[in-house]
Amino acid sequence: MRLRLLVPAALVLSGIALAAAAALAQPTPRPASPIFGVTIPDGYRSWHLIAPALEAEPLNELRAVVGNDIAVKAYARGTLPFPDGTVLVKLAWKHVPSPEFEPATVPGRATTVQVMVKDAMRYPETGGWGFGRFVNGEPVDEAQHQTCFACHEARVKERDFVFTRYAR
Ligand code: HEC
Repeated sequence: MRLRLLVPAALVLSGIALAAAAALAQPTPRPASPIFGVTIPDGYRSWHLIAPALEAEPLNELRAVVGNDIAVKAYARGTLPFPDGTVLVKLAWKHVPSPEFEPATVPGRATTVQVMVKDAMRYPETGGWGFGRFVNGEPVDEAQHQTCFACHEARVKERDFVFTRYAR
């Protein structure tokens, strides 16, 4: 009697274990930005530095723009427009006085990670660029993504909608 119950129970349990293993093996889809479907690229934290930036008010942010190899080559050669496959990532932190040496300013809490991906076919209406803004790894809302291209287009259209120049 006991055995008759145990066998089906064991089968059910092993079924659950298999389903759980299958779920773990599935790569979890990465959070993608609304409108553009842009994700945070792998390994961006060790990409080449294009330039730092500072925003004094109102956000008080220290920023660093980094680029993938395609971006770095395009900067080096002055290629405009940037070729497909170019990815630029802007990291940002609050800035705070150094706890060890007050006159120095150092990064505080991370605020946003912002991404621009060049794909002329996919993003014909926004100069060939897809945009993504992430807070704690999650994309912000659609309304914020509607502002990206407008600002970049209004100010740096002649530089393929990219503000950051290479800091030598
Ligand atoms: C009001 C203007 C404005 C808006 C809106 C804006 N940006 Fe930018 N963006 C800038 C400026 C200025 C820079 C230059 C770096 C800096 O000063 O932080 C920049 C730089 C960038 C960069 C680095 C490449 C470059 O152009 O220098 C990325 C990536 C970026 N922005 C993504 C975004 C995304 C994604 C959004 C929308 C969610 C967005 N931006 C909205 C002004 C804007």
